[in-house]
Amino acid sequence: LMSISDLSPAEFTRLVLNASSHKKAVKDAFAAGQVPPKPLQGAMTGKTVAMMFSKRSTRTRVSTEAAVQLMGGHPMFLGKDDIQLGVNESLYDTSVVISSMTSCMVARVGPHSDVTTLAEHSSVPVINALSSDFHPLQTIADFQTIHETFASTPSESSLGLEGLKVAWVGDSNNVLFDLAIGCIKMGVDISVASPTGYGIPDAMKKTILAAAEGVAKPGKLSETTVPEVAVKDADILVTDTWVSMGQEVEAQKRLKAFAGYQITNALAKRGGAKPDWKFMHCLPRHPEEVDDEVFYGPRSLVFPEAENRLWAAVSALEAFVVNKGKIL
Ligand code: CP
Ligand code: NVA
Repeated sequence: LMSISDLSPAEFTRLVLNASSHKKAVKDAFAAGQVPPKPLQGAMTGKTVAMMFSKRSTRTRVSTEAAVQLMGGHPMFLGKDDIQLGVNESLYDTSVVISSMTSCMVARVGPHSDVTTLAEHSSVPVINALSSDFHPLQTIADFQTIHETFASTPSESSLGLEGLKVAWVGDSNNVLFDLAIGCIKMGVDISVASPTGYGIPDAMKKTILAAAEGVAKPGKLSETTVPEVAVKDADILVTDTWVSMGQEVEAQKRLKAFAGYQITNALAKRGGAKPDWKFMHCLPRHPEEVDDEVFYGPRSLVFPEAENRLWAAVSALEAFVVNKGKIL
């Protein structure tokens, strides 16, 4: 799983619905003092998941470790100072060796080509845990959160989100790209406001728009430099850090460029967001991109969204490792 673009709309829908149903089943079981129910119980017995992280992580690390543990497997965390990942050993050698001893690699890398190179040479499934271009586990959790908050007609085969509008205000980055692909596949419109020079690169735009192929009613992507334009009639306002990991040297320049893009209640009002709009953020969060009033306020979905990372990890590991890529 490199990106949401690897998934058909039906597969993506199933991953999200499975995440949601496992959440309910496991929480009910835990509340009753029981162990995780089948089919999760013991589903990964004897399996080791190599978690190769070249960057820091709270949610992705904890959710993946907890998900593997919940299914009876062994999560093996390998930080950047623990293994030779691309520093003292090639990605090819690393991938062949680690995949010969484990059942899955979950990799957080810099350039997206690092995770695709790992996948190309691996004999086991590889899951992208964040690259320069995509963050598919985040997008599964985000759609689970949107589904649990907004689903109009819950069904076994649809998320029931058609016609909603997402407004992304901030940097055009890895989290946005997979979110936008998910929106297009699920019939959710997405409007992106980024300052000049920080919009979606042309090659990435092509990849995002290709998500509409074969979708009966795809969501529409629009772009602007004006936050108020993006938030007009939006149901969900979303942002992420203005300075992603690896961009620290550009921090001062970026903070200046993004001035005026902070998400606030005043921005939502000026722009004309829907009356019951909600706020989402993948975290970690900094106050410059969203103020405390919104982030900690009643419209904020950020903590359920973070918790849903666990259920997204369970769903993805079940599909790719337990069921060997069959998304049932
Ligand atoms: N949202 C997310 O991926 O958070 P971490 O970087 O803490 O894993
Ligand atoms: N865009 C951020 C996401 C972190 C989860 C980054 O790449 O650092």
